[in-house]
Amino acid sequence: MAAPEQYAVIGNPVAHSRSPQIHAAFAAQCDAVISYQRLLAPIDGFETTVRDFIAAGACGANVTVPFKLQAYRLADSLSERASAAGAVNTLRFDHGRMYGDNTDGIGLVNDIQLHAGVALANQRILLLGAGGAARGALLALLQEQPACVVIANRSMDKAFALADQFGARGTLRAMAFDVLDGQFDVIINATSASLSAAVPPIAPSLFAKHTLAYDMMYGAHPTAFMAFSAHHGARTRDGLGMLVEQAAEAFYVWRGVRPATAPVLHALRAALLAETAST
Ligand code: ATR
Repeated sequence: MAAPEQYAVIGNPVAHSRSPQIHAAFAAQCDAVISYQRLLAPIDGFETTVRDFIAAGACGANVTVPFKLQAYRLADSLSERASAAGAVNTLRFDHGRMYGDNTDGIGLVNDIQLHAGVALANQRILLLGAGGAARGALLALLQEQPACVVIANRSMDKAFALADQFGARGTLRAMAFDVLDGQFDVIINATSASLSAAVPPIAPSLFAKHTLAYDMMYGAHPTAFMAFSAHHGARTRDGLGMLVEQAAEAFYVWRGVRPATAPVLHALRAALLAETAST
């Protein structure tokens, strides 16, 4: 039997990562023999960890917090979407050379369109936040040709910088939270506010009945943003599907095969709920 293709998710911390489960499920779908492990890299040891993994014969890796920027700098070549994001979450090792990609944006878009059933073309999208998560999402969102994307952030300099960077790709504006008006079809929380159970300062008037309020974070319980949005009549969704979809795109980058994501998402959701029930 051939030796398994080796992959890993590299991060610090990384013990919580669900990527091994997801990729094992994808591999099982196509009878592929892969090994996918969690690799804890020392904070100052990302490059060494990657190079050792390549030397051990690895085919690719996912990169998570806090190394996405280092992976971007380390890669020998980059996809357009990794260049735009300024970050790499997927590395493919081609004969010792590192190809860097970023599948987070397409993961978000695929989850919204395929699983939540919202086509983004001609929609009014509000993107909350202007950090790494927002930057990683913008190219993929604009490629769906929405009516507009409005970026709202507390620090306006960061929002303006993103509007400048991506302005040629579509109708894009940066606005302060307190001057937002009208209603939005899709509101995406790309801030890290949910980590501290905070809600970005948005007015309830921004929600219509059909609005999809999407939080890039996920957990067994709705985030504070989701609870706020649901209270004001919106449909809500967390980022678990984005996690599965970004993994599917990475699997495609490595292996040229697109796995089915719906059964994997359902299994992951069930596992998440079961873990909470047993704690
Ligand atoms: P990430 O890589 O997760 O995007 P980041 O680059 O540190 O992390 O960006 C965090 C984002 O969340 C920023 O847009 C930040 O707003 P500021 O740039 O104004 O700091 C936003 N953020 C964090 N906590 C927030 C809160 N409680 N309300 C609104 N925005 C918040």
